[in-house]
Amino acid sequence: MKNNLDEFFEKVITVKWGPDKKSIDIIDQTLLPNTIKRIQIKDKEALWEAIKKLRVRGAPAIGVSAAYGIAMFANEIETDDQAKFLEEVKQIKDYLASSRPTAVNLFWALNRMEQTAIANKDKPVSEIKKILFEEAEKIREEDVQISRNIGKIGFDLLKDLKEDGKELGIMTHCNAGTLATAKYGTATAPMYIALENGWEGKDMHVYCDETRPLLQGARLTSFELVNSGITTSVQCDNMASLLMKTGKIKIIFVGCDRVAANGDAANKIGTSGLAIIAKHYGVPFYVCAPSSTIDMHTKTGDDIPIEMRDPEEIKSMWYKEPMVPAAVDTSFNPAFDVTDHNLITGIITEKGMCHAPYDEAFKKLGIV
Ligand code: MRU
Repeated sequence: MKNNLDEFFEKVITVKWGPDKKSIDIIDQTLLPNTIKRIQIKDKEALWEAIKKLRVRGAPAIGVSAAYGIAMFANEIETDDQAKFLEEVKQIKDYLASSRPTAVNLFWALNRMEQTAIANKDKPVSEIKKILFEEAEKIREEDVQISRNIGKIGFDLLKDLKEDGKELGIMTHCNAGTLATAKYGTATAPMYIALENGWEGKDMHVYCDETRPLLQGARLTSFELVNSGITTSVQCDNMASLLMKTGKIKIIFVGCDRVAANGDAANKIGTSGLAIIAKHYGVPFYVCAPSSTIDMHTKTGDDIPIEMRDPEEIKSMWYKEPMVPAAVDTSFNPAFDVTDHNLITGIITEKGMCHAPYDEAFKKLGIV
């Protein structure tokens, strides 16, 4: 298979500006892998809906789209009065913040945008508007670099595990890939950096959990990786244990939506089960986390709010007919779970690798 990485990244770019920065152009991830369709977000209700419905999803990508949203909607505020402008920016921020509760990058990006406006409050409103566009762009560009750094650290781990002439088995869960970020992904970045460093797609074999109920692994991660030329498999979530028992999986990389100060990490539902199995079989389990995902104000995983989603996602969403009798309760549909820090081999941030005790490791890297 050909390594057509750049062409692919260009095609599936997650979030970009529409013409004249009057819209946010996103790839509608609910339609993948069968339909590649871009949609133009023009008002805040449409952005809220796109985040809620997972048209744009993945912690860093949610952060970037929220930052773009603040810049674009703030630009439409019709006032020259700075105090009134800041009040309206806050209202937009609070509204967008209500779309999804778990990924801390959403709040991180919204706060950063609001703080930027506040720090420039004495300038004319037209100037603050310009600065907000620049800040949103910075957030997007930084995300590309953050993923690259995470990828380089992850690639060092892959090099240590690689045996000549053999494909290296890697497992991942959900989608912490290019579609979840501005370019390289977090959990997929080590593989993309490997390709940039001369590895061929067949040097690796990535096993993607399908990731019920919304199938991000099957629909998104496998779509990305196979289009990048990497040998890719999809297995049902309940096959992970048997797969690890075969010895094929040498390392696991997952993303995260929020890491607490003690290293407990919230990620897509099913991640903690995977970590428990990995510990049993001695497979190293790494969480890939931009430092913006580490929330030092959240003490432990117990303090992380877990989003509950529509029961229909379990019952009927992917089927021609409901696959659960109508009278049966499917209301327990958490989008995320929390992996205990003692199940995590290491947390890879763009600033460096962290090992337990995590609160100390984070502080040493200047994460506060
Ligand atoms: O509900 P989703 O699809 O937004 O969940 C996404 C994940 O769980 C990702 O692993 C996480 O956001 C990290 S993305 C780099």
